[in-house]
Amino acid sequence: MTVMLADGRPMPRLGLGTWPMDDNEARQAVTHAVSLGYRLIDTAAAYGNEAGVGAAVAQAGVPREDLFVTTKLRGSHHGYDAAMRGFEESRVRLGLDYVDLFLIHWPLPDRDLYADTWRAFVHLREQGLARSIGVSNFTPAQIERLAGETGEWPVVNQVELHPGFAQDDLRAWHAGHGIVTESWSPLGAGSDLLGEPAVADVAVAHGRTPAQVVLRWHLQLGAVPIPKSGDPDRMRQNFEVFDFSLSEEEMTRLGGLNGGRIGGDPDTHVEL
Ligand code: A2P
Repeated sequence: MTVMLADGRPMPRLGLGTWPMDDNEARQAVTHAVSLGYRLIDTAAAYGNEAGVGAAVAQAGVPREDLFVTTKLRGSHHGYDAAMRGFEESRVRLGLDYVDLFLIHWPLPDRDLYADTWRAFVHLREQGLARSIGVSNFTPAQIERLAGETGEWPVVNQVELHPGFAQDDLRAWHAGHGIVTESWSPLGAGSDLLGEPAVADVAVAHGRTPAQVVLRWHLQLGAVPIPKSGDPDRMRQNFEVFDFSLSEEEMTRLGGLNGGRIGGDPDTHVEL
C-alpha cells in the first residue's frame, strides 16, 4: 500500500490529515490512527499541532522508519535562510531527527520567494533532514520555475482534490512529470459532496459509506488522499478502502460532479 516517489522512496497510499486539530486532538487522533494501520501523517507549521503529532509518533509503538511524517513550511518562512530556520523549528516541535516529506505550503507568488525557498529544500534533502521534498498548492508554471532554476523537481504536489474539483489537467501534468498528486480536503470538507446523490448511489451499490467511495475514487486515480477525522469510527472507515473497486463508469460519474474549488487559489492566495 505504497506509491513510489520519483526519488525512489515509498509513500503510503493514504494518510491522516490533521487540520484543524490542536495539539491535544492531534496527539489522540494520530495515536489512534497508527493503531488502525495508518502510516502517513500530515501536519504543517501553520496548523499549530506539530508538537501533538510528534508526541503521538514518539509513543506510537511502531518503528520510526515505518511512519511517514509530512510537514509544511509556512508563508512567514519563505526565503532561503528563513526556510532553513522554519524547517528546524518544525523538526524540533515534532521531536524528530528527520521528516519524511517537507512541502512548501503555498507558493505565495506575490512575495516571489518560492524559488529561493526551494533551494533550501534541496539542501535539507541533501542533508537527509527532509527525506523527500515537494510543494503544495503549486501550478505547473510555478513548478516549472523551480525545476528551471534548480534542476530539481518536487516529488509531490499536495493540492485540493475531490470529486467536486477533479483537476484532470493538473493530474495529467503531474503524471507526465513523475509528480505524485496528494489530495487535501479529499472528502470535500465544507461542501455537500458526501450528500450528493451520485455519491450515495455508488456507496449503496458497494455497501460502503459515501466517504469510503470518495476515498476509493482518489486511490484509483493514483492520488494520495489525507482525510481528516478525529472520530474513531470515521478514521476506521476511511482506512477500510483497500478491498473494493469502483467501475470506470462509477469513476466517471463521481469525477463529473464539478462543484468547484473550495479553498485558496495558488495564483492569488496570499496568506496561510
Ligand atoms: P470529523 O473530524 O468530525 O470526523 P477533509 O479531509 O476532506 O478535509 O474532510 C474532513 C471533514 O470530513 C471533517 O469535518 C470530518 O469530520 C469529516 N469526515 C471525515 N471522515 C468522515 C467520514 N468517514 N464520514 C463523514 N464525514 C467525515
